[in-house]
Amino acid sequence: MKTLIAYSTLTGNTRKVCEAASKAFSQVEVKDIKEVDNLDYDLIVVGTWIDKGTADTKAKKFIETLENKKVAFIFTLGAYPDSKHAEDCTNKIKELFTENGNEVIGHYHCQGAIDPKLIEMMRKSFGPDHPHGPNPERVKRWEDASKHPDQNDLDKAYEYFKELIK
Ligand SMILES: Cc1cc2nc3c(=O)[nH]c(=O)nc-3n(C[C@H](O)[C@H](O)[C@H](O)COP(=O)(O)O)c2cc1C
Repeated sequence: MKTLIAYSTLTGNTRKVCEAASKAFSQVEVKDIKEVDNLDYDLIVVGTWIDKGTADTKAKKFIETLENKKVAFIFTLGAYPDSKHAEDCTNKIKELFTENGNEVIGHYHCQGAIDPKLIEMMRKSFGPDHPHGPNPERVKRWEDASKHPDQNDLDKAYEYFKELIK
């Protein structure tokens, strides 16, 4: 199965997970979305980081170019992978694909370290009661996220796709 893994990444988390997942395929190309020049593949896996609750702009634009393809997706996010937020992100991204007739065969996601510059901005700009401010729960989540993707996340990405294409 000729597979393309096309990723968008700001700080490298999503690229790492996509590269780990790619080891599960025998015939695969892994490319930054901006380097994709054709869509002639049996399966296209899109990797995106989560920006304001959905795929980031570059990934979204790329997804809009896909029609009637067999697809899967990978995302990394600052929130916990088993959170309602992660579930909402999954559903939103799935919808971006299905509204153009694409067939989504699976997806994988894990937590990813949040850009320290963004954390610094949130610490400086917002009080603890603000939805993005540094309350103890949020600070703990930022610290937890900073350790991801870890080796376990990468192994799980590989295993997920190995099983999916079996
Ligand atoms: C501008 C910006 C917006 C973000 N928005 C969200 C968000 O809405 N929800 C979330 O869980 N994480 C959010 N994040 C965290 C990133 O999705 C997460 O750190 C991701 O792993 C970054 O991936 P990358 O290293 O591939 O760029 C945001 C990060 C940035 C920089």
